[in-house]
Amino acid sequence: MLDKRTLQKGLKTKSFGRKLFVFNSIDSTNACARTLAEAGAEEGTVVIADFQTQGRGRLGRTWISEPGANLLFSIVLRPSQMEIALLPFSASVAVARAIEHLTRHRAECKWPNDVLMNNRKVCGILIETTMTDEDRAYAIIGIGINANQRTFPSSLSAVTSIALETGKEIDRSALFKHVLREFEEIYRTIQSRSAENIMSEWRTRCSMLGHRVIIRSHDTTYEGVAERLSDDGGLVLLTEAGEKTFYAGDTTVISS
Ligand code: BTN
Repeated sequence: MLDKRTLQKGLKTKSFGRKLFVFNSIDSTNACARTLAEAGAEEGTVVIADFQTQGRGRLGRTWISEPGANLLFSIVLRPSQMEIALLPFSASVAVARAIEHLTRHRAECKWPNDVLMNNRKVCGILIETTMTDEDRAYAIIGIGINANQRTFPSSLSAVTSIALETGKEIDRSALFKHVLREFEEIYRTIQSRSAENIMSEWRTRCSMLGHRVIIRSHDTTYEGVAERLSDDGGLVLLTEAGEKTFYAGDTTVISS
């Protein structure tokens, strides 16, 4: 089971994870982080749980995770409008770096914000933002990493875990600390207006660009070549009807 002392021991961050709320079971760490953010929680506050009863995924899906096997946590940030567009890329690069650092196995990024090992998803990221009241504006970065789960429902064919890919259990507390450290460093970099290195690292980690893909977005399917990212983080697809930019959806590579 996760415990606060171990999660914070040797944590090399200034603010990320310094305020930490640890639960055995919770509805959703994103929901809890949101409540804390509404109440004024400071930037870097983290909520982590061993199990979620109502874990949320992207596009209104649920996120199901075996109790005590994985990493499920959410970070409260208070980014500017410009930084918001960079958060999916920043968070997925941070997770990929942390996985590689601890396992020496390659981790890739998939648009918009998944992390893959051997073409299967090991991490999903759900970013929920509000900009309604400038003083209270916040973003919740919810990160679910399949760490040590060994079996998944057969309906989830393209899903894996770090343990399945490396053949070894991973220390969840160490992984948590590495992700926070990398993410804080990247976040400070984008705050100082130098996003180009992060975006170029994301591109080198994304094998989809230049390939033919199918994208399902708002109940419609499109096909084309994933050309590039737009300046605001959209995926630009070259379809038969010309270029089209997507800001949400699920992508599948169909040819190399
Ligand atoms: C996705 O659909 O790929 C995003 C999944 C995000 C899941 C994480 S687990 C921790 C946090 N709390 C939630 O309810 N969801 C995110």
